Amino acid sequence: MDLQIETNCPTTWKFEYESDDPALDNLYEIAKRDQWNVSVDIDWEQDMREDSDVFGRAETGIARTEFFGKLSKTTQSDLLANIAAHTLSQFLHGEQGALLCCGQLVNSVPTVEGKLYAATQVMDEARHVEVFDRYLNKLDKSYPVSTALKKVLDAILAADSWQAKSVGMNILVESLAMGTFYNMMIQAEDPLLASIVKLTAQDEARHVNFGIISLMKEIPRMSEEDTAALEDFGLAAISILLGLGDEVGFERSQPFLDAGIDPDDLKNVFHPQIRDADITLLKSGSKQRSVVTEYMVPNLGKIGLLSDRIKPKYVEMGLI
Ligand SMILES: [Fe+2]
Ligand SMILES: [Fe+2]
Repeated sequence: MDLQIETNCPTTWKFEYESDDPALDNLYEIAKRDQWNVSVDIDWEQDMREDSDVFGRAETGIARTEFFGKLSKTTQSDLLANIAAHTLSQFLHGEQGALLCCGQLVNSVPTVEGKLYAATQVMDEARHVEVFDRYLNKLDKSYPVSTALKKVLDAILAADSWQAKSVGMNILVESLAMGTFYNMMIQAEDPLLASIVKLTAQDEARHVNFGIISLMKEIPRMSEEDTAALEDFGLAAISILLGLGDEVGFERSQPFLDAGIDPDDLKNVFHPQIRDADITLLKSGSKQRSVVTEYMVPNLGKIGLLSDRIKPKYVEMGLI
């Protein structure tokens, strides 16, 4: 795994210190006001009940499938614990990616108000790395970064413009995070996790807003060619994240193998019933939301990256 990423994104000075963006100034004020402390604002003493899952079964797609119903009670609990650790591990690694990316944004965004805001996000992401690491230690189980997640984070870190970094991180990865945290607030059975995702989701909403405010202003000033390149970058990033086209997506098998499920049965595990478990859940009246159609794609639209040129591709992939 590549641990060192090269980028040609320039670091810029700015000697005009006055801001001309009240929306970003306001977001900066909110970011300073709403800082929280992992050691103080989370009650780490609250314990999960012995017999409860991290995520409630009624709000977990896979737990509602026939496949799951046929597993032994122990395997069911182990599988759900592994899937929770796997998902939260990806968030931990994703938070580190966000931390590194925001450091780059402090350097590369051209305005002072953008640099100051991005600096608050650096601290937010440090806190998110800390909080998920601490929670995973409590679960006593963690997983390495998924190849697909590492690939998209590397592409964002290697991108040579702040605009591409912000589209990849603030608009796509953080919309995905914000939507998933919203769903996790509904899913979480462990009150400790519920309190963590609530605070983290508030920060992520700000980070998405940062991308929207800066890019809504920036993209109309860009050339047609540069805007098209940015649109293509967004489409490539979303394809990696969702495993569309030639992309393999996130590996999902390890939590099943670790729960003792026979590797030969894995083809059954990825039977459409399991693969589509979350979609089925959304259709069943759950209050959870689709992160793709309610967060990621609409936010691309807000910043003007869903032109008539690219929109048919999203329609073709079933994302619109
Ligand atoms: Fe974060
Ligand atoms: Fe974030």
